[in-house]
Amino acid sequence: MTASLGNGFRGSRVVGLGMAVPDRVVTNAELATTLDTSDEWIIERTGIKERRIGGTTRQLAIDAGRAALETAGMDPLDLDSIILSTTTPDRIIPATAGAVQAGLGARCPAFDVNAACSGFVYATILAHAMLIADAERILVIGADTLSRFVDWNDRTTAVLFGDGAGAIAMEATSAEGNALLGWHMGCDGSLEELLYSDLDGYINMEGKEVFRKAVLVMEESCRRSLEKAGLSIEDVDVVIPHQANARIISTACKRLGIDIEKTVQILPWTGNTSSASIPQALTEAQRQGRLKKGSNVLLVGFGAGMTSAGALIRWEL
Ligand code: COA
Repeated sequence: MTASLGNGFRGSRVVGLGMAVPDRVVTNAELATTLDTSDEWIIERTGIKERRIGGTTRQLAIDAGRAALETAGMDPLDLDSIILSTTTPDRIIPATAGAVQAGLGARCPAFDVNAACSGFVYATILAHAMLIADAERILVIGADTLSRFVDWNDRTTAVLFGDGAGAIAMEATSAEGNALLGWHMGCDGSLEELLYSDLDGYINMEGKEVFRKAVLVMEESCRRSLEKAGLSIEDVDVVIPHQANARIISTACKRLGIDIEKTVQILPWTGNTSSASIPQALTEAQRQGRLKKGSNVLLVGFGAGMTSAGALIRWEL
């Protein structure tokens, strides 16, 4: 599914952002005390040096959401919706977004979206569609605690994941002010077995095949988002990719002809935080001064499902 929006009458833009990470740092060296692995292997094959572990999905989401509302100068009571992207809810019933709404002191509709590591971009596109329809202010959060679903005795997955949350506050604009210039969402459900966890199980993954497919779907989502925005690769100023593996990012960038220097990478210290990774990297990019007003920022996610999603945003902060 692909589209470029506004609808001719209204658009949306990002007006605030924030992130949260747990305090507990687990280094590669610490993992190597219990697993047959090494700091060198993990860094060379993934780019990850350490990850943050702990907390609950709701509390991380509340902390990141509050930070985004504060930077936007937005009152929780003025929100029209909270959309929480998570693949690790605190409970099966109800959605974790309700607890986040209560924790933030908001009164608006709140619901979860699960499209694995693409979920935050899915949720951003959904928020955009709601904003051009009628809503005025939406908080979009990505939060995951995948450490609860990792088999810490399995070196092929334990080294990859971390916990955390990131969030953006969005508001409606006129059509001329629209800043979400193009987007793409994809899913190939026939690839479910490549990466899954049963309800009471651990993450199962065919790493090599996930890697191969991830590069392809990432490329497709980038190209199709740009096409819908009417922009070319050269127009992209900053790329915020899902933070799974530095080699996936560099391989996809090579295929796309994107200078790797344009990518933001926080995975050396976060690991793969699933739904949280893109808003966390976006927040970090803003903190480092890498996002300028008017920059074309390309978000691109991929993950279990197998899902993928891209969104080209003109930066307005
Ligand atoms: N430490 C040391 N050795 C490890 C290891 C670890 N943590 N994990 C696997 N190995 C070993 C394997 O057992 C294998 O040994 P063998 O040759 O004796 O059989 C060897 O390293 C190579 O394994 P392979 O799976 O071919 O490595 P790889 O280069 O493909 O890297 C991943 C493995 C998981 C890092 C990589 O495939 C990957 O990142 N895939 C994508 C995963 C992902 O991003 N998932 C989330 C998507 S949202």
